[in-house]
Amino acid sequence: MNLLREKIEKLRVEKNAVILAHYYQEPDIQDIADYVGDSLGLSQQAVKTDAEIIVFAGVHFMAETAKILNPNKLVLLPDADAGCSLADDCSAIDLQALKDRNPNHVVISYINCSAEVKAISDIVCTSSNALKVVNSVPADTGIIFAPDRNLGRYIQQQSGRKMLIWDGACIVHEAFSKEKLEALHANNPKADIIAHPESEQHIIEMATFVGSTAGMIAYVKRDPSQSFIVATEAGILHKMQQEVPHKILIPAPAKEDNACACSECPYMKMNSLEKLYLCLLNETPRVEVSSDIRKKAIVPIERMLALSR
Ligand code: 13P
Ligand code: SF4
Repeated sequence: MNLLREKIEKLRVEKNAVILAHYYQEPDIQDIADYVGDSLGLSQQAVKTDAEIIVFAGVHFMAETAKILNPNKLVLLPDADAGCSLADDCSAIDLQALKDRNPNHVVISYINCSAEVKAISDIVCTSSNALKVVNSVPADTGIIFAPDRNLGRYIQQQSGRKMLIWDGACIVHEAFSKEKLEALHANNPKADIIAHPESEQHIIEMATFVGSTAGMIAYVKRDPSQSFIVATEAGILHKMQQEVPHKILIPAPAKEDNACACSECPYMKMNSLEKLYLCLLNETPRVEVSSDIRKKAIVPIERMLALSR
């Protein structure tokens, strides 16, 4: 075991800390985490844990959600600047203005948003339960869906519900190239294309399966195909490959040529094992949420968790 890993192991025990990591984290972070999962699984783990400190190896909105669920625990984020383009695309002021113009609509917010946005939402969803959440709203009630236009459009098609969809997007999932994906598929005709619903319509149309990161991993395990082209952030390939060591996994190509021929999240990749160690050692950067916002934001999060049991 390397020295940094040993130091983290020691501190984790001494401080009664749990390390939660998203599938898009670097492999060495995923390997040391107590739990690796998608946004829903990570929120559920944040509820379950009896650790005193939560080290959240992910991005800010995820750690913030864990803090809202655990106001008395210390929640640490290895890099305080690890944000999200979707969360940045939706301010609470602008969402409130849309709500004011559509007062009878239910507001469903994708978990990739700030605590302030959650605080003015009726129910939160993730990519794994968005359809269930939308279907839980009475058919005669209008829906505002924020902030991801691609997930919103996909769920609108799946549910048949007309929704007012916020115009936000994930820079990672909008980076995939249709032309390069077609060429890659032509060279690998037996490979199934699987995609995350944050992807654009033309990518979704090429996919045989669309789902959350955890859903995509479950799919490659159960599907008899031996090769897959994976249209989501490339960090997922680490755990996915561990689950299906004999299958071929190929990352979907980005429009811009880059070293990995894939799409990586610059925010997720701000965290490193070194930063994780330092944050556990120094107990900073801490994620804080004001009690006023927390009391409001927990309501739509708990509604989502209750629907997802
Ligand atoms: P899930 O892991 O919930 O599918 O979300 C993907 C994502 O983009 C997280 O930022
Ligand atoms: Fe946000 Fe996209 Fe990065 Fe997820 S992958 S954290 S949605 S920018």
